[in-house]
Amino acid sequence: MGNVYILDHPLLQHKLSIMRDKSTGVKEFRELTAEVAMLVCYEATRDLSTEELEVETPVGRAKVRKLSGKKLAIVPILRAGLGMVDGLLNLIPSAKVGHIGLYRDPETLGPVEYYCKLPQDVSEREVIVADPMLATGGSASAAIGFLKARGCSRIKLMCIIAAPEGIERMRQDHPDVDIFCACCDERLNEHGYIVPGLGDAGDRIFGTK
Ligand code: PRP
Ligand code: URA
Repeated sequence: MGNVYILDHPLLQHKLSIMRDKSTGVKEFRELTAEVAMLVCYEATRDLSTEELEVETPVGRAKVRKLSGKKLAIVPILRAGLGMVDGLLNLIPSAKVGHIGLYRDPETLGPVEYYCKLPQDVSEREVIVADPMLATGGSASAAIGFLKARGCSRIKLMCIIAAPEGIERMRQDHPDVDIFCACCDERLNEHGYIVPGLGDAGDRIFGTK
C-alpha cells in the first residue's frame, strides 16, 4: 500500500499559510506555489538511489555520493500543476517534463481530458505527478491511469493540499502510489472544493478570477 506523507516542516507551513490567505495576490501566490513544490520535492526524492564515487578536493580525496542516474520525469496536471514545475526543476534540472491536460466538469466533478504529451521514454522513468490540489482525486487518478497505460510503473503524486476523499480515492485506484503533500484538510464542500483549502489553485496561479 502506498504511503501518504504529510510534511509539517515549519517553512512549508508558513508558506502555505500565506497561500491560503485570500488577500495574497497572484504574483506572491505563484512564487509560493513553486517554493512549496520545491520543499515537497525535497522529501519526495529522499529515496533516490546514489552511488559512491571519489573526487579530488583542493585538500585530498573525498568519498562522495552522487545520484546514480535513475531517470526522472515530472508530469504536471494542467493547468494548476504548471505552477509547481519550476520549483521541481530547480531541484532536478535534468528531469524531462510531460503534460496532462484535465479539467473538472463542474457538474459531475469528473475529469475531462484535453491534452497529453509525455516524454517518449516515460515508461523507463520514475514519474512525479504534480497537482496542487487533490480534491475528489478524480484528476490525479485519471492522470496516473494514463501513465500506467503508457507503461509507467514507478509513480509518485505530489500535491500541496489533499482532502481525505482524494486520498481515499487514490488508495482505491492506485494503492501503489505514494502521496506527498503539505497538508490534509478537513473535507470537500458541495462543489468539490477543499475546505478550508485555498480556493481554485489554477485561478490563483494564473489570475483568471
Ligand atoms: C483542479 C486542480 C486539480 C483538480 C482537483 O483543477 O488543479 O487538477 O481540480 O480536483 P479533483 O481531485 O476533484 O479532480 P481544475 O479542474 O480546476 O482545472 P485547472 O487546473 O485548469 O483550473
Ligand atoms: N481544485 C481546486 O483548485 N481547488 C479545490 O479546492 C478543489 C479542486
